[in-house]
Amino acid sequence: MKQRLQKLIAAAGIASRRHAEDFIKSGQVTVNGEVVVELGVKADPETDHIKVKGRLINPQLAQRKNVYVLLNKPKGYLTSMSDPEDRPLVVDLIPASLGRLHPVGRLDFNTEGLLLLTNDGEFTNLITSARNQIPKVYKAKVQGTPSDKAIDRLRRGVSLGEGERTAPADVRRLRESESNSWFEVVLHEGRNQQVRRMFDAIGHSVVRLGRTRIGELEDKNLRIGEWRKLTENEVKRFKKSKRVKRETRPRVRGLIG
Ligand code: URA
Repeated sequence: MKQRLQKLIAAAGIASRRHAEDFIKSGQVTVNGEVVVELGVKADPETDHIKVKGRLINPQLAQRKNVYVLLNKPKGYLTSMSDPEDRPLVVDLIPASLGRLHPVGRLDFNTEGLLLLTNDGEFTNLITSARNQIPKVYKAKVQGTPSDKAIDRLRRGVSLGEGERTAPADVRRLRESESNSWFEVVLHEGRNQQVRRMFDAIGHSVVRLGRTRIGELEDKNLRIGEWRKLTENEVKRFKKSKRVKRETRPRVRGLIG
């Protein structure tokens, strides 16, 4: 059956559908030897030879099994597939025997905590789609003691500069010491470095950040640097997650002391 090339590339586990579109636009995809740069083109993996960066993807499409992994990312790892500076990559923390997996969304180099990885580009699309507002829960240690008024600004939505404004977020003060405060932040959107930029906007930099929950998924037993496969039920729940609505007050777990 003919399907759009970006869908096939994602299904082969090479990249998310969005990245597959970039491969196409930049002339790195061929069908039966012809370079394809338009996004609407379809191919049939049973009869057409589809290559990405010169590599035939038909075998992956024929034998692939979807794999879904939850990793507790340590800080000091990149959520990219490669790095010109040769910094450590999260994909190197997962055994090669699971096949080539890609991270579902991003965590900053210095953010730790829960990260999904998969070879299922459709799943990645679903979870990272702007329309699918799966809540993500973070625990942040920040400099100083922000006032209640400043925290209310974060709750209502705050300007990040250049016309960018955050959606309302749930922000809860957990505790404070003489020099730091700890907050739980629930985001319903995913802007670049959002938690760090939100606290920067109120003048209290984040000094440590961890993600403790993705939708309904949390795992207190998974230590930093450890990974496990998702259960079938967990995968199913994510696949139904278009129906997930904004929620209130998730439970806190002790990722950052
Ligand atoms: N917000 C951030 O600032 N960084 C992350 O890695 C995730 C959310």
